[in-house]
Amino acid sequence: MDFDVTPLMREEVRDLPVYSPGRSPEEVARELGISHCVKMASNENPLGPSPLALRALAEALPTAHLYPDVDCHRLREALSLRLGVTAECLLVTHGADEAFDLLAYAFLERGDEVVVGDPTFSSYELAARTMGAAVRRVPLREYRQDIPAMLEAIGARTKLVILCSPLNPTGTTVSAAELEAAVEGLPRSALLVLDEAYLEYVTDPEHPESLHYFRDCAGMVIARTFSKIYGLAGLRVGYVVCHPAVREALEKVKLPFNVNRLGQVAALAALDDEEHLRRSREVNEHGKRRLYGVLEETGFAYVPTQANFILVKDRDRGDLYGELLRRGIIVRAGEALGVPGHVRITIGDEAQNDRLEEALRDIAGKG
Ligand SMILES: Cc1ncc(COP(=O)(O)O)c(C=O)c1O
Repeated sequence: MDFDVTPLMREEVRDLPVYSPGRSPEEVARELGISHCVKMASNENPLGPSPLALRALAEALPTAHLYPDVDCHRLREALSLRLGVTAECLLVTHGADEAFDLLAYAFLERGDEVVVGDPTFSSYELAARTMGAAVRRVPLREYRQDIPAMLEAIGARTKLVILCSPLNPTGTTVSAAELEAAVEGLPRSALLVLDEAYLEYVTDPEHPESLHYFRDCAGMVIARTFSKIYGLAGLRVGYVVCHPAVREALEKVKLPFNVNRLGQVAALAALDDEEHLRRSREVNEHGKRRLYGVLEETGFAYVPTQANFILVKDRDRGDLYGELLRRGIIVRAGEALGVPGHVRITIGDEAQNDRLEEALRDIAGKG
């Protein structure tokens, strides 16, 4: 039965793309007729969830019939202690992704503007466009967000300036001087959103402590997640650090039970799992050094990263994405991320990195 809902749809929604997470390992394995594919595409933690979170989840399962705590009270208290900000400054979200939606719902309307890097994480633009806001994309310079140009792009209708550090898809960071400039250059009519989804992987000792800037900047909103180093992407838990007035605005537009019960329990346990954090950092650092070496030996240029993924430059007229896929390794094609001619590879565990190394050497004819 034909049913054309286009005339019913809001104009802003008509042209929106549907988010595509890339190919699934099962689908690719079936297509290639092989038993096992390696997915190094979504920047998940190859170690899996924290064992403490798994234990807490097992204990909490029998309470799954109960609605979750609407305020995420225990998790907010724990985060408050950990971060040194009051619980009034914390909102737990359905993954960091929800934060960008809530900011858009609460603050954006037709005619408003959002300033972002180009490329950057795609959710910002989708959220802004859903509300009819215009997105001002400011090109990166040498794979880094161009903070002076982003500040220049702020206009009278700019409501959100969104920075990402480390930046997806390049793995580069915003420096302390740049963050300071952004805080100082921010007009009172706009919020400065800082997405720190990969913060826990950063090893650069000079990387700015965003909470330090937050204390002096009421308009700063920091988004973080339990999806990456904490290994809980499937449970969808993130959080926002913001001024209590911003939090109140975001609370008005969130779903009542936006963070499920098991997610809250797992995040609380993962937050205290220092050993899992330490190992996750160690595996990432080790994998990073190893992949740098392999990429150099096989002649692929890459962008040094502060995250758990590496942006790799393809050769002229190369098809690195397709060649890796044919060898059972799924990475993200740069075209989909706004960096044509590149692929983004999630740093894996030893076995995944072995397979990647073998494939890269094979592709480069040095196997
Ligand atoms: C930069 C960045 N921010 C936010 C997210 C979303 O994280 P979450 O799973 O918490 O929604 C991602 C996920 O890939 C990301 O790369």
